[in-house]
Amino acid sequence: MRIDIITCVPKLLESPFAHSITQRAQEKGLVEVHIHDLREYTEDKHRAVDDYAFGGGAGMVMMIEPIARCIEALKGERKYDEIIYFTPDGARLDQKMTNTLSLQKNLLMLCGHYKGVDERIREYFITKEISIGDYVLSGGELAAAVLSDAIIRLIPGVLSDETSALTDSFQDNLLAPPVYTRPAEWQGMEVPEVLLSGNHKKIDEWRETEALKRTKERRPDLLE
Ligand code: ADE
Repeated sequence: MRIDIITCVPKLLESPFAHSITQRAQEKGLVEVHIHDLREYTEDKHRAVDDYAFGGGAGMVMMIEPIARCIEALKGERKYDEIIYFTPDGARLDQKMTNTLSLQKNLLMLCGHYKGVDERIREYFITKEISIGDYVLSGGELAAAVLSDAIIRLIPGVLSDETSALTDSFQDNLLAPPVYTRPAEWQGMEVPEVLLSGNHKKIDEWRETEALKRTKERRPDLLE
């Protein structure tokens, strides 16, 4: 898979792809992540990528031309399965959406900043608009990092234990059961005995029961 991310703050996206699972996925050649600095596509002598909003009001709007130039250049090199824009008024990201996107080959992500991008960019280029939750971020960069991370861990071969992504919360609409490691007793609190029993059938049953219990208590909406 290849992920291209367009941003006017490329530094914000350095760390999320430079460590841990996303880094290893790139080293293994399972995903390529390319960050594109929008300011390299402006012809403005101050490298501005935003301008005042027509109609007035607070906040700047990201201009059409640098974004259009950047997207056209990338589209000229390959076909994108989706061109994603991050915005609070997009469809709410969930595991189903990340599962679907993890099957794609080329994803292009556009990060908005300030008051967002000129509406015509959305109408002309964008195939999917995504929100990562009902709150407002300063820009789409953290949303792009969240989505990319959620997608990358689903790519076959990325996680060393192949079954690990399948037992994540939200797969099968269930939250994950509690997990424990050593020591078996801490502050008088003991690890559930079944987990020490070595009986894998019993352990699987316990995990299933706990996952269901936790989902009923915390997220009954997932079971509807
Ligand atoms: N940009 C600003 N807020 C956002 C959010 N909640 N989700 C995605 N992109 C955003």
